[in-house]
Amino acid sequence: MPSSPVTEHVPGRLWFGGDYNPEQWPREVWDDDIRLMREAEVTVVTLGVFSWALLEPEEGRFDFEWLDDIVGRLHAAGIGIDLATATASPPPWMVRDYPDILPVTVDGTVLSGGSRQHYSPSSSTYRRFAVRLASRMAERYGTHPALVAWHVGNEYGCHVSRSFDSESAEAFRSWLKDRYTTIDRLNDAWGTSFWSQHYTSFEQVDVPKVAPSTRNPTQVIDFDRFSSDALLDLFKAEAEVLRAATPGIPVTTNFMGPFQPLDYWKWAREVDFVSDDSYPDPADPDSPATAALSRDLMRSLRYGQPWILMEQATSAVNWRRRNAPKPAGGNRALSLQAVAHGADGIMYFQWRQSTKGAEKFHSAMVPHAGPSTRIFREVVALGAELADLAGVTGTRESNRVAIVFDWDSWWALDQDAMPGDIDYLAIVKDWHRAFWRLDIPVDFVEPTSDLSTYDLVVVPALVVASDAGLSNLATVPDRGGSLVVTFQTAILDPELGVQQGGYLGSLQQVLGVSIDEFAPLAHPDESGTAPDASPLSSITGCLGKSVEISEWSEFVSVADAEVLATFDEGEVVGSAAITRRNAGSGVAWYVATHPGRPALRELARLLASESGVLAPDVEPRSDSVEVTKRGDLTFVVNHGNEPWAGTIDGGAVDLAAHDAVVTAAAPAPGSDARTERSQPARQPRP
Ligand code: GLA
Repeated sequence: MPSSPVTEHVPGRLWFGGDYNPEQWPREVWDDDIRLMREAEVTVVTLGVFSWALLEPEEGRFDFEWLDDIVGRLHAAGIGIDLATATASPPPWMVRDYPDILPVTVDGTVLSGGSRQHYSPSSSTYRRFAVRLASRMAERYGTHPALVAWHVGNEYGCHVSRSFDSESAEAFRSWLKDRYTTIDRLNDAWGTSFWSQHYTSFEQVDVPKVAPSTRNPTQVIDFDRFSSDALLDLFKAEAEVLRAATPGIPVTTNFMGPFQPLDYWKWAREVDFVSDDSYPDPADPDSPATAALSRDLMRSLRYGQPWILMEQATSAVNWRRRNAPKPAGGNRALSLQAVAHGADGIMYFQWRQSTKGAEKFHSAMVPHAGPSTRIFREVVALGAELADLAGVTGTRESNRVAIVFDWDSWWALDQDAMPGDIDYLAIVKDWHRAFWRLDIPVDFVEPTSDLSTYDLVVVPALVVASDAGLSNLATVPDRGGSLVVTFQTAILDPELGVQQGGYLGSLQQVLGVSIDEFAPLAHPDESGTAPDASPLSSITGCLGKSVEISEWSEFVSVADAEVLATFDEGEVVGSAAITRRNAGSGVAWYVATHPGRPALRELARLLASESGVLAPDVEPRSDSVEVTKRGDLTFVVNHGNEPWAGTIDGGAVDLAAHDAVVTAAAPAPGSDARTERSQPARQPRP
């Protein structure tokens, strides 16, 4: 079985468990917890995430007695511990004695304590105390045999990702000095000759607070970059003391899927393995696709390394307006989806449902109603099933299709005063969904990633592009692959200046097209029709006769490419909407719009088949059934509310609603997956 930092200390098992908050319960309950954990075949729990106020009840006075007790009990039961550094939420004494730690919102409001995460990312006071607690934890538990990983902080930036306090402003200035060295360089990069913004010293530069009109775009994106880095520095400060004390224990922090405030490409380089929290809405039919994207992103952040699903809900959350429960089987279906997409562990928030505090109505592994419930029965069944699937741990897939994902572009497209309000994540999701619906596995990559193993690379709305990124993308067709570039790519350089040589920059030559002018489309209202005179638009060509498009159209000049589809309506009528050029020994496509979902799927099918990327033959295809291979296993998951019966590469599969089957190999033509459930040998408990 291949090893990874994830499984090194939990050999032969997937992680299965959740956040365990024993401090919320009297110790009699702990005995019951451990008994039930054993029944559910729990292998790992995360301890201490919100325990700071009990571990350090007064400044400098530490009390580890209760934690020692529960760590010992868990170890005796053979359960591994993902130990939090407990720094996720500062204790009340710190708020009272050091109010300078409190974050300030963009409009100047100082946030108070009394909930959680009430610290400014740049607070040196918070950092000093957090690092001290992390080193005390490392000293005390670093050699404990139950320790399987360090869990630093919790969901960095979830509530406070940017703070506009004076210490943040000072830290921002120092970050800018590192980046630009001189104030003239900054003036040049930010284009401060516009609107009388010229600075004569760094001391004049502030964080981008609420202002009368559009703030300087480069100042805003630099503040986005700085804020992601400020939190990452906090993580690194704790990770450094942990690694020094316990070099053999992997360090992680839990990500939140495609979370806009933090550039997870940078973050992923600093963790030993990626872990993720994922709460798809059971009431949203798009949830399985959204979850699949998160899982693919998490796997891709460290280039295929297995990751941990660190938190999910067994059923309902309590933070949506109406909190739908997961349907019977839904928890298992989404958990197996995660394993299929590279997870080596399935964990929850939280073990036992709280009876007090802000999250008492959030589901847990042991619900308010106790263990004689469908939730706990499902947990126990899943624990046993995951024990049987342990053979999959450590396995990686080599995928042939990649989609570029880029935080700079996400930040820039969200700014004011852009040509249109493009929802970057929605565009990326639609492209990902098009391949996911065809069961073609997709990795995410950075513009500068090594792309040499991919046959097909899609670049959706990469509005901010560096020269290095563009040259790297150009290598795809050069060496025989297909490069697909969409509208709003390479419009700006990393300083948010317009690309030298025009929109698309150096890709103009590769694609054989240039862009003369944008023509964003009107937004459809809820009934699906545009709110003003312009109808929803369409294109005609390689995707069929008149297929619907949304978001975008533009005037494209074609110098050296085949026009495969043209715009049907508006000022752009007759202008190229999709082009294709034989470039190098490969192909370069330009897609000047956003085809509707059915057409986008058709385009994905066309692109995949041109690149020789094969999809499993699934009949009938359904929006809710996905087929994923990992290692020697094929996972077939029906996320839908209806049963599904069909064939996969000729083998019959029959699934109830929210059911899944894991077969030892691709269902062979003529076989019946119902009789082929895998039963790998059960591994002994660690
Ligand atoms: C996140 C947090 C948990 C909890 C859950 C609720 O995962 O890390 O502490 O708040 O959300 O969904």
